[in-house]
Amino acid sequence: MPQVNLEKVVRRFGGVAAVDEVSISMPDGAFVTLLGPSGCGKTTTLRMIAGLEANDEGRIQIGERVVSDANAGVFVSPDRRDLGMVFQSYAIWPHMTVFENVAYPLRARHVASGQIATRVNEALEMVEMGAYAQRPAPALSGGQQQRVAIARSLVSRPQVLLMDEPLSNLDAKLREQMRIELRALQQRLRITTVYVTHDQREAMELSDHVVVMHAGRVQQAGAPEQIYARPSTHTVASFMGSPNLVRARVTGRADGPDGALLDVEGQGWAGRCPGVPALRAGDDAWLIVRPESIRLDNDARACAAGISWHGEIQSTSYQGAMHAIRVAIPDAVIHAEVEASRRPRVGENVVLRADAAQAWVVPAEAGQ
Ligand SMILES: Nc1ncnc2c1ncn2[C@@H]1O[C@H](COP(=O)(O)OP(=O)(O)OP(=O)(O)O)[C@@H](O)[C@H]1O
Ligand SMILES: [Mg+2]
Repeated sequence: MPQVNLEKVVRRFGGVAAVDEVSISMPDGAFVTLLGPSGCGKTTTLRMIAGLEANDEGRIQIGERVVSDANAGVFVSPDRRDLGMVFQSYAIWPHMTVFENVAYPLRARHVASGQIATRVNEALEMVEMGAYAQRPAPALSGGQQQRVAIARSLVSRPQVLLMDEPLSNLDAKLREQMRIELRALQQRLRITTVYVTHDQREAMELSDHVVVMHAGRVQQAGAPEQIYARPSTHTVASFMGSPNLVRARVTGRADGPDGALLDVEGQGWAGRCPGVPALRAGDDAWLIVRPESIRLDNDARACAAGISWHGEIQSTSYQGAMHAIRVAIPDAVIHAEVEASRRPRVGENVVLRADAAQAWVVPAEAGQ
């Protein structure tokens, strides 16, 4: 049974649906991330799970309990939903010590004072802040404040943890470290976690499931690997890293044991590769080839099983572990990653190759 379940949830602001028929099933103990560009409805969705926002339509269930059902007039208030919450602004109270900040939710619930010290210390230990209990909250670094906010969200031992961009105020290095800590903590506690971010790397690193949202709707939901390698739409593909999206047309298809293989004619290449199963001969499409799937080769002989393009290097950018290059092929520019020792030069004529099995085809949408 899913721990959090959203069924056709809608939230309108002034007649416009900010969240539009969103259905998501979040398994018990999973780390689920809502990912999407600014304004796509992530925070609104999270706030409806929390009960800080009422849904206009649909149903929200936490555990066995329906906490909100717009049709049936059911609405459980936030403090009775058994949730922990962490926000971008840590909302740590500056006039209190670390201990009192974390104790606050327990005092608000009139938990016996004998239990408070045990529970607060336990929560502070979880985030390795036990030694800081008596510090005034302002005398902490950003990362420490965020840990206190996490301890405070866990102190009531909630069923579900909700987090809205909790790491975005931290610098890049600390963010990286906190991501690792957060994932380790979540796996240790096995607490169902709903996490909001617009950072696809963060989503992939942390999550068991990623829900990609766009304009209030769920575009795709699945394991990070699936969303990265097998996006269902152009929108999802272009949001996950910086793939090459090359115009193509489907000319045929063959159904095999591992899904559909499509015959495609793309710019400068025709061949067979996997793609979205709903595609049919005659459909306009996009061929997706990730920069890291491309090899650079001066050997001009064609590679029968693979994709190959002839082109000229337009620009190179040294990135330490590799060079990012842009190569002009007829009617398109392809991004590729080349090993650092290869030293590509602007103006060089090259052949780009990719294994067709690593490419992917998605439908062209209206207007594309
Ligand atoms: N209280 C409100 N009143 C009116 N419109 C709102 C309100 N809250 C959100 N919206 C609108 O709903 C849409 C979704 O907002 P939301 O905050 O959920 O986006 P988000 O995905 O969290 O974006 P971001 O990544 O910028 O935080 C936006 O168009 C926003 O302007
Ligand atoms: Mg938001």
